[in-house]
Amino acid sequence: MRIATAVATLLVLLFTVFACTTKPIGVETNPAVQAQRAPGRSFDDQIEDHAKDMLKEGRRIFRYDTFGSEDFWGGKVRLHEAIAGEKHGGRGAGVTARQALQLGLKVDIGALPKILVEAIRGRSVDLDNVETTLELLRANAVVGVTGFFDKDTKRLTSLGVQCALCHSTVDDSLVKGIGRRLDGWPNRDLNIGAIVASAPTLKPFADLLGTDETTVRKVLMSWGPGRYDAELNQDGKAFRDDGKTAATVLPPAFGLAGVNLHTYTGWGSVTYWNAYVANTQMYGKGTFFDPRMNDPKQFPVAAKTRFWNKRDQPDLITPKLAALHFYQLSIPAPEPPKDSYNAVAAGRGKTLFEGKAKCATCHVPPLFTEPGWSMHTAAEIGIDEFQASRSPDKKFYRTTPLKGLFVRAKGGFYHDGRFGDLEAVVSHYNRVLSLGLNPSETADLIEYLKSL
Ligand code: HEC
Ligand code: HEC
Repeated sequence: MRIATAVATLLVLLFTVFACTTKPIGVETNPAVQAQRAPGRSFDDQIEDHAKDMLKEGRRIFRYDTFGSEDFWGGKVRLHEAIAGEKHGGRGAGVTARQALQLGLKVDIGALPKILVEAIRGRSVDLDNVETTLELLRANAVVGVTGFFDKDTKRLTSLGVQCALCHSTVDDSLVKGIGRRLDGWPNRDLNIGAIVASAPTLKPFADLLGTDETTVRKVLMSWGPGRYDAELNQDGKAFRDDGKTAATVLPPAFGLAGVNLHTYTGWGSVTYWNAYVANTQMYGKGTFFDPRMNDPKQFPVAAKTRFWNKRDQPDLITPKLAALHFYQLSIPAPEPPKDSYNAVAAGRGKTLFEGKAKCATCHVPPLFTEPGWSMHTAAEIGIDEFQASRSPDKKFYRTTPLKGLFVRAKGGFYHDGRFGDLEAVVSHYNRVLSLGLNPSETADLIEYLKSL
């Protein structure tokens, strides 16, 4: 009986093997693999083409897409009227090109007609003229701002904003404020508060915040260059307990690939935040959902305005999020000029960073933040909880990726720029983490930070 079973099993096995080997060789039955082998472009080619398309499209969105925000900045706040001035159909004196540059707005030399570039170089362009500002807007050369003009009257009729307004600057190759675009570099010269405060009406903000226009203007003017408050219109907190502005310094939008959570307080991923900003800060038209903000205690304004569940038709944001995300992840952190730090001292500083100074426990190279959940309490880094308490998680700061630090020295370090320079940062850690670094070790560590 047992032998019979064994023989039967053997026969079945043999049959199976035979059946397999007699199947025509080379004919693939898995449809997925079949598709891959189809003549024409391989799937590898498709991936590469997709990556190129996403990069190009994402760059266009980052630089030029207003997401329909002109309905707010032009339609409601009428910011374009303050720029154009009375003579050009707006209000007041208007903004001259020099004033625009002084407010930190940047001009993309790539968009300027050659003749205008030569005229600026030869100083034959009148920068103290509102018409020059309008000319720059017509050329679509003002970084992060798009002017809309009437075809017949040639007047400025509206204005929309882009990501590049706060997260791009220029290399000053022509003159200060005019040069080639540097996407991802925070514009620490930009006085966005003063720009918005110049609008003929701030009533939309006053209504939103349940206050008056004078108060809104005072808050906007308290920010200063390189700062913006991306949470004010959710929680209504304009000032900290010490009376200083609640605005943060503008962060870079480069070197973000590989980093889990974004913003100084880890609101979410890059694409989370892009949807947040485009919908609730730029006042574009789209969809945004975050039920964590439906909390009348922490976010009284958001709970009232329902910014946590925004559903505009048409949705001009959601279809752009994928490419926008892709582009940002493609922007590398810039390398500091080789002569801007002492390489030998930086080498010693690296050893300290990864050893005695304990920096690398949180700032893990080469990401310089933690792979995983990179959040820390205020107490762990020896500061107050104010800004952390404004995020949905209420109590954490994210370990800032440190590459390209040299680009953001202006305006200071940490979310509120509280440390004027790297020396102040290192002496802060030296004290709160009791590192026992002596002055020459401190100097070496600083050289290393400058080299990142
Ligand atoms: C008015 C200025 C302004 C505009 C316009 C703006 N941002 Fe930001 N952005 C900020 C500020 C301020 C923060 C920091 C917010 C915080 O930490 O609370 C920030 C944070 C970020 C971060 C997180 C960076 C990091 O290190 O985690 C990314 C990514 C980002 N913005 C991308 C964008 C994109 C994409 C757009 C366009 C859809 C955009 N921003 C438009 C001011 C701006
Ligand atoms: C416990 C984790 C932790 C340790 C240890 C740590 N950091 Fe940080 N670091 C952070 C966090 C969190 C922030 C963000 C703070 C903020 O924005 O308020 C930060 C911010 C910074 C910044 C500011 C970056 C910017 O763009 O504003 C620098 C510079 C820095 N750290 C350097 C260091 C150095 C140098 C050491 C070692 C002496 C160190 N860190 C140790 C967590 C840490």
